[in-house]
Amino acid sequence: MDRPKKKVVLRAVYSMSSLSTSVKENGGKGMRAVNSLTSISELDDSDLLALLVDRPRVKLERKNSYDEKLFSELSLYDGWETPTFSISDSFDPHPMVSKAWEALFRSQVYFRGQPVGTIAAYDHASEEVLNYDQVFVRDFVPSALAFLMNGEPDIVKNFLLKTLQIQGHEKKIDRFKLGDGAMPASFKVLHNPIKKTDSIIADFGESAIGRVAPVDSGFWWIILLRAYTKSTGDHSLAERPECQKGMRLILSLCLSEGFDTFPTLLCADGCSMIDRRMGVYGYPIEIQALFFMALQSARSMLKEDAEGKEFMDKIQKRLHAMSFHMRSYFWLDFQQLNDIYRYKTEEYSHTAVNKFNVIPDSIPDWLFDFMPLQGGYFVGNVSPARMDFRWFALGNCIAILSSLATPEQSMAIMDLIEARWDELVGEMPLKICYPALESHEWRIVTGCDPKNTRWSYHNGGSWPVLLWLLTAASIKTGRPQIARRAIDLAEARLLKDGWPEYYDGKSGRFIGKQARKFQTWSIAGYLVAKMMMEDPTHVGMISMEEEKHMKPVLNRSFSWC
Ligand code: GLC
Repeated sequence: MDRPKKKVVLRAVYSMSSLSTSVKENGGKGMRAVNSLTSISELDDSDLLALLVDRPRVKLERKNSYDEKLFSELSLYDGWETPTFSISDSFDPHPMVSKAWEALFRSQVYFRGQPVGTIAAYDHASEEVLNYDQVFVRDFVPSALAFLMNGEPDIVKNFLLKTLQIQGHEKKIDRFKLGDGAMPASFKVLHNPIKKTDSIIADFGESAIGRVAPVDSGFWWIILLRAYTKSTGDHSLAERPECQKGMRLILSLCLSEGFDTFPTLLCADGCSMIDRRMGVYGYPIEIQALFFMALQSARSMLKEDAEGKEFMDKIQKRLHAMSFHMRSYFWLDFQQLNDIYRYKTEEYSHTAVNKFNVIPDSIPDWLFDFMPLQGGYFVGNVSPARMDFRWFALGNCIAILSSLATPEQSMAIMDLIEARWDELVGEMPLKICYPALESHEWRIVTGCDPKNTRWSYHNGGSWPVLLWLLTAASIKTGRPQIARRAIDLAEARLLKDGWPEYYDGKSGRFIGKQARKFQTWSIAGYLVAKMMMEDPTHVGMISMEEEKHMKPVLNRSFSWC
């Protein structure tokens, strides 16, 4: 490609000098001046690709030598055809960035003087606080990544240790004792101004609307521990006996033997980011992808001592079985859709092609138009006679980042996002799922949930937090132009609209009906996306490469071999 060179300077855009007020507000805690991270001149579009693919050509001034390792482990796919894109403004400090940092610092929660997390939303205008004043485990992940990328690991370490302590408490719902490994959905710090003491109350689902189980919390905890270790190079935290035990407890909840016929994890509805009844019970893609990523992360951190060894073997076997299962049965592209459309039903024995007895008539009409010739995705759910054909953003992005998807599948997921941009990205990245449930289906599936009406909230709403996942997946697949386009959309509205939790409407044009403002993960998600574009090595914190032995080409009729 012969294009004139543009001069681009990479620089840290999140200067702390503008945050002096929040320093005071926070008692000066958790603040650290950060200078320029990197400086690269004479970059053009092809150079960014070189930055991604041909690493030795670019010399980055790294914060510490550990980044070197991150960078080397972030091997990106090669051989792609990258459309023309402009990165000229990718590295320009956007005025929103300093505002976002200000808001993120303001959302910090302190326990006995130490920052231990960020509250879900800092929205004083909202009449109902509900539990948005708590630190949610899943919500804290983008905040944590932002802090790590900014060279401030302490809050992340404190959070990991505090939640571990909470895990250690006895958990009961009514008279039922929960598993030892269960991690909370959220926790709240209670300050007693008279006694000058701090205490914590946690929610494992016993207070949450609908009493939903936060299955994703434990997985995010393990994933975050790895991100912390990768980013800081500090292995001592993961090696602590209490962290090793915490990991083992989480793993024993999901690696125990039962009646399962599949390696995927059986869940109740509302057990993750979609924490209301939305027909995601069974084997939801979000949980499967997070489970896979958590297993990979644990494998890299567990000690092979007497207790750890047993888990390592189980992890290895499960990863192997899961990658086969997911890549074969959850994967949908034009060819696969055509095969299902022509499926025979009621097949008996291990020679069955239609193993789950999916009835072709259950393929929804929208899918025939939605499926592009090039592209594909992991469907929402697969279980006996049930394929949930909806597209879910988080599961598909995590599948790319964890290498649950093969390189070809990862490319196809990005192809589909590009081909169906109006439907999936529209005016605000990114749809949580597509399409929305309407009318009778909405009544039956959601139980007439007024918060999840069509194209709102979890039912086809657009969630700015998902921007960081889209950006990470775009960078990993060597297609940063996709992220660039999405970030531009977010920048046109997010700050102006007060960082809403979600947007409504078919194209995500309206601020969500009941969306909180100053939703922390909308703010942090934006910052993480920006920092990853600025320094793609950051993606290594939450990206994993495929294991060699998982690579064999899969054939649907091989599962009994
Ligand atoms: C809502 C979301 C959930 C999030 C929580 C706090 O319940 O559905 O994913 O963790 O708000 O922001």
